[in-house]
Amino acid sequence: MSDKIKIILDVDTGTDDAVAIMMAYLEEKIDLLAVCTVVGNKPLENTTENTLRVKDLLKADFPVYKGCGEAMVCNLNPNRHGGFKGVRTKVGDMKEDVSMHTEYLDIPASTSKVEKEHAVFYYIDTLMKSDGDITLVPVGPLTNLAMAMRIQPEICGKIKEIVMMGGGCRRTNSTPASEFNIWHDPEAAQIVMDSGVPIRMVPLDATHNACVSTDDTKEFRAMGNPVGDAVADFTDHRIMAYSQLQPMERIDSAPVHDALAVCAVAYPEALKDLLFTRVDIDFSGGFADGQTIVDPRAFVDKPRNCHFAFDADREFFVQWMKDLARKV
Ligand code: RIB
Ligand code: CA
Repeated sequence: MSDKIKIILDVDTGTDDAVAIMMAYLEEKIDLLAVCTVVGNKPLENTTENTLRVKDLLKADFPVYKGCGEAMVCNLNPNRHGGFKGVRTKVGDMKEDVSMHTEYLDIPASTSKVEKEHAVFYYIDTLMKSDGDITLVPVGPLTNLAMAMRIQPEICGKIKEIVMMGGGCRRTNSTPASEFNIWHDPEAAQIVMDSGVPIRMVPLDATHNACVSTDDTKEFRAMGNPVGDAVADFTDHRIMAYSQLQPMERIDSAPVHDALAVCAVAYPEALKDLLFTRVDIDFSGGFADGQTIVDPRAFVDKPRNCHFAFDADREFFVQWMKDLARKV
């Protein structure tokens, strides 16, 4: 009986999702059962092709399941955000667009293919057949998981834990009130928050305290292997974008959000300052649409549903990625 942690990763690949996939595949404590794709950073076709490109770069054999190409309902309202108007590509007097994520990752086009089954039904089939020993790691919008919960609510009793990259309390990005993964599909996020499944939320409050710097990317590049090079390239791109769109305290650094969620699966000590409280999502479509509402009070009105991490151990996280990449 393997004592590895079984996970299903749900991604909107994206540069930081790509690093998360590589680390999940390389981490010996993790058994990466499958990767599911969803619309988010880019349209579904892009996030799926990018995920397959990372699989091929790793010469990996995990299956990839294609998921939902639209948020559940929020795009039905023309007054709500929809699409990709969230994370800015231009601020202030910038002339040129700058994106955190290229249309396609700058690695060879994929040769592998997605599985036939839709990601939502893969979740349902796999979780219902399981012993309840699978951890879900969504690092994009929660559309796939929420759809599966709506179709077959019984899966909630079969999920060991959800360790999600998403949300923000004192840190935001898409709007003054919201973080992108939640903002992109707020109703999906609320369905997950109401699911009763144990949730650890790895929000911007944590990921912004675990940034990767150009000093670090030099070390990844010096490793002289495809994973080190890819981590360096993707992260240098993020540093370029963040320095213009959302400068971090260290201007030559950027968060690699999704990889921190994977690190937290294998090493919970990577997260710090966790608060077990009630977390809900605003989906009213107003100024705070997609806000992560973290109840700070000692006596909350609804059952506590989430361990929210307000901080992270940057040194541990970055060293963990270096150790994994160096072994390739
Ligand atoms: O807000 C950061 C999150 O949004 C990350 O998961 C990034 O990949 C984007 O999906
Ligand atoms: Ca992501």
